Amino acid sequence: MIQSLRGMNDILSEDYERFEYFIATASTIAKRYGFHYIETPLLEETALFKRSVGESSDIVGKEMYQFIDKGKNDVCLRPEGTAGVVRAFIQHKLDKKGGIHRFYYHGPMFRYERPQKGRLREFHQFGIESFGVASVYEDALMIMMVSDILKALGIGYRLKLNSLGDQNCMPAYREKLVRFIESCGDAICGDCERRKLTNPIRVLDCKNEHCQNLYVNAPKLIDNLCEGCESDFETLKSILDQHSIAYEIDTNLVRGLDYYSKTAFEFVSDNIGSQSAIAGGGRYDRLIEFLDGKPTPAVGFALGIERLMELIVMPEKVREGYYFGAMDETAIKPILLAAEKARRSEKAVVEYKPRKLQDHLKGSDRINARYCAIIGENEMNQNSIWVKDLVEKTETLIPLNEFFA
Ligand code: HAM
Repeated sequence: MIQSLRGMNDILSEDYERFEYFIATASTIAKRYGFHYIETPLLEETALFKRSVGESSDIVGKEMYQFIDKGKNDVCLRPEGTAGVVRAFIQHKLDKKGGIHRFYYHGPMFRYERPQKGRLREFHQFGIESFGVASVYEDALMIMMVSDILKALGIGYRLKLNSLGDQNCMPAYREKLVRFIESCGDAICGDCERRKLTNPIRVLDCKNEHCQNLYVNAPKLIDNLCEGCESDFETLKSILDQHSIAYEIDTNLVRGLDYYSKTAFEFVSDNIGSQSAIAGGGRYDRLIEFLDGKPTPAVGFALGIERLMELIVMPEKVREGYYFGAMDETAIKPILLAAEKARRSEKAVVEYKPRKLQDHLKGSDRINARYCAIIGENEMNQNSIWVKDLVEKTETLIPLNEFFA
């Protein structure tokens, strides 16, 4: 029997209710903050991700679903959403137009990682990208938005915060860090050896315990910020304090994608096992010019929907709509007409098999209908339909001409 691919899941209706509830809640909040929906293709040129996410990242180095298509184009299933949105922003000349452009999106992302709980090869993100605001207030807005979304879903979190510096302070810090890494000699792992040459700050979040012990004394990003970055970071912290959003400074938080500068943040949950990052984001002021657009400040984040699924507190289910049933064959036609009428404004589900009343009532419970509407011999004789309101526990015999009015 053919099975789905490893790390790629079906979302069946029960889970989909949660999924849909998440999308609806997050979209409502994004719209309240003035963001507009954007849809970009799942497939893009591989070069887009190489130039944005970065050749030194695990995502590009090891995890891309990359292939040559029939037209001999080197293409790739998107491993994340930011690159595609930035590409669209530049392609549609919004960078030239200037002003502020705020987008949200959701959809599948693909990374060829080793599947485990919370780590899939096809997973879904809800993401936000904001273009044109250089102010750290926009960074705070991003964090407030994630916090709002998680709060609305009843999900607790810890927020980790760091600043990665900018083109003024990052080069000197890099040099300092490389000198430190070199002082560790051969003791570092192969991955760090590679990172030292491509993107040295990535060594800081190396998962190898031996490396982590070595880097305890490494120079910290946060102690090497220029005046501008430092004062922005202070402002960010004070806004979060003002909004009672608790945070922890994590000096090793560098994020797994190369495009970030200045603010970087990650939301983690302590209730979902080792893959604990539920959202991540930050500022990426240089990315648009790296992709040949007009220099434009930008900031954004993405939430991993699968990791949130088991944490979402769903609202209590309310009974809604109609269940329609016939008690004998002749009643099916009027039942179909009645269902069609009801469906113009509400859910209306028809059971085609003639059944006893008790079975129809059970059917109404199964679909959580508010009304159980039945036609049997008695109702046929009286040209009526029997309707039970399962919330108010009332029963009414309604003449069909009234029901259709
Ligand atoms: P990211 O941290 O790579 O950032 O991914 C964001 C979230 O996607 C993670 O926090 C996690 O919840 C979820 N996620 C990542 N990989 C997997 C996986 N293999 N299985 C399940 N869930 C996963 C980005 O993708 C950036 N584009 C975020 C961003 C937007 N930064 C600025 N704008």
